[in-house]
Amino acid sequence: MIDASPPDLALRGMESDDLARAHALSRALQWPHRAEDWDFLLQRGWGVVAERDGEVVGTAMAWPFGPKAATLGMVIVAREAQGMGVGRRLMQAVLDGLGDRTVMLHATAEGLPLYRTLGFEPAGTILQHQGAAFSVPLPELLPDERVRPLGASDTDTIVDLDRRATGMDRGELLQVLAEQSQGVVLTRGHEPVGFALFRRFGRGYVVGPTVAPDLGGAKALISHWLGSNAGMFCRLDVPDDCGLPGWLDGLGLQCVGRVTRMVRGKALPRDPAARTFSLVTQALG
Ligand SMILES: CC(C)(COP(=O)(O)OP(=O)(O)OC[C@H]1O[C@@H](n2cnc3c(N)ncnc32)[C@H](O)[C@@H]1OP(=O)(O)O)[C@@H](O)C(=O)NCCC(=O)NCCS
Repeated sequence: MIDASPPDLALRGMESDDLARAHALSRALQWPHRAEDWDFLLQRGWGVVAERDGEVVGTAMAWPFGPKAATLGMVIVAREAQGMGVGRRLMQAVLDGLGDRTVMLHATAEGLPLYRTLGFEPAGTILQHQGAAFSVPLPELLPDERVRPLGASDTDTIVDLDRRATGMDRGELLQVLAEQSQGVVLTRGHEPVGFALFRRFGRGYVVGPTVAPDLGGAKALISHWLGSNAGMFCRLDVPDDCGLPGWLDGLGLQCVGRVTRMVRGKALPRDPAARTFSLVTQALG
């Protein structure tokens, strides 16, 4: 592969002073991230920026979850610097930093060819559903089923459910998310079997992650948040084959975009009894 990136291009670690420029790059693409969302992402992981003539022209970030897994995202190259190898160099720098971890990302159509050449394989499709004009019928709960507020003592439970659903050890992330979100837990016969968090993100609110044993459980959890926030702008990023897309469409939360889930490295062990029905964000998985 020929490196056509400009000779005056320098790569360095992302710092908090870079976030205003990084935010401008994502806004230019009409990505919804607020300054606070970038800040949250940098606090939870690390990034690399590409600089040319003293100006940041590209970003890429990573979030390691223990020694075996990581997610990668916020890969952006300013339009005027695209097609010159900047994206490839950023990706290579981030992958070097992640060592032999299994790396997961969500690829736009533009990013997909680059990721393929770096060893990422497609592993599903994620649909972005959102809107404010939705209405939600009362959830139908099973006789022994209950949706109750998340308590401080539930943290270990949701960390465990998330680990089973993703194969990643995201304990620290889940702990911070639990502090900054509202949450509900799904119990069956008093045993916690799922949860869903609800928090500020982008243009409004996001329901995610949602982890549940099955579609009925996921609907019960998501209905809780949508039912109590009618008229608010809400977003969910959901696997296309999880059974939710048609239901969300019917409620009025339209599909506005799709990305390809891609994985590089060894498959992570996942428990089919605890499945991810909506993501934290596309970057964090
Ligand atoms: C995706 C993106 C980061 C690529 O950055 P870039 O600096 O333009 O990419 P590079 O110049 O390093 O090219 C890397 C590869 O991408 C592909 N590519 C780049 N420009 C392309 C184009 N105009 N048409 C088709 N493929 C192209 C090629 O496969 C290229 O491989 P090569 O090195 O063998 O030629 C950039 O297009 C971008 O910021 N897009 C908008 C944001 C986005 O979608 N990010 C991805 C999020 S997952």
